[in-house]
Amino acid sequence: MDRKTHWENVYSTLKPHEVGWYQAYPEMPLHLIASTGVDKSAAIIDVGGGASNLVDALQENGYSDVTVLDLSAAALEVTKARLGQASDRVKWLAADITSFTPQQQYNVWHDRAVFHFLTEAEDRLRYMEAARAALPPGGHLIMATFALDGPPQCSGLDVVRYTPERLQQEVGDGFTLAESFGGLHITPSQGKQSYTFCRFIRN
Ligand SMILES: C[S@@+](CC[C@H](N)C(=O)[O-])C[C@H]1O[C@@H](n2cnc3c(N)ncnc32)[C@H](O)[C@@H]1O
Repeated sequence: MDRKTHWENVYSTLKPHEVGWYQAYPEMPLHLIASTGVDKSAAIIDVGGGASNLVDALQENGYSDVTVLDLSAAALEVTKARLGQASDRVKWLAADITSFTPQQQYNVWHDRAVFHFLTEAEDRLRYMEAARAALPPGGHLIMATFALDGPPQCSGLDVVRYTPERLQQEVGDGFTLAESFGGLHITPSQGKQSYTFCRFIRN
């Protein structure tokens, strides 16, 4: 099954709170975005945002220029329906990040649990090409991946697990690590998943 079909199936068959990565409140993503110190008018893209509540929380916190990109059109429809009229203030992109050509630049690129699905080096290189094109110097690249003691799979797919050092190698020396820490995500079925959180700044 190709990856688009996989993710369309996930979001067509499971409710947002039934997936392992569900967060009622995206505390860590908000913390990392606040750490950037960007203005509330900054352009923020949530890459592989899926049906995450992050866009809702960003709007509630006054961020006015938010884009949500996901491979799954079904995921975007779920999020749009939840937001109702507020969805008109969000830019929606149904796209595969490994073949994405940004049409604008962003101050913040946020990715929670997306990059770690890229098990092919070629896909990771293409992802980083898009990130470099999207982020101007001083732009922030936020990534949350499974840590070394995190699960080897998510949603039935293999993942690559990272330390901050390994992520730095992937993003390359065009980015400087500004902060990193580990954290636990508790899944809806009370499982514990160990994450690595990193914020890089584009040189
Ligand atoms: C584990 S979910 C995380 C969703 C969201 N970031 C969150 O924290 O709730 C992974 C998401 O990445 C999306 N995705 C997977 N591969 C992708 C790709 N190549 N391009 C864009 N989105 C992708 C999936 O559709 C899914 O919504």
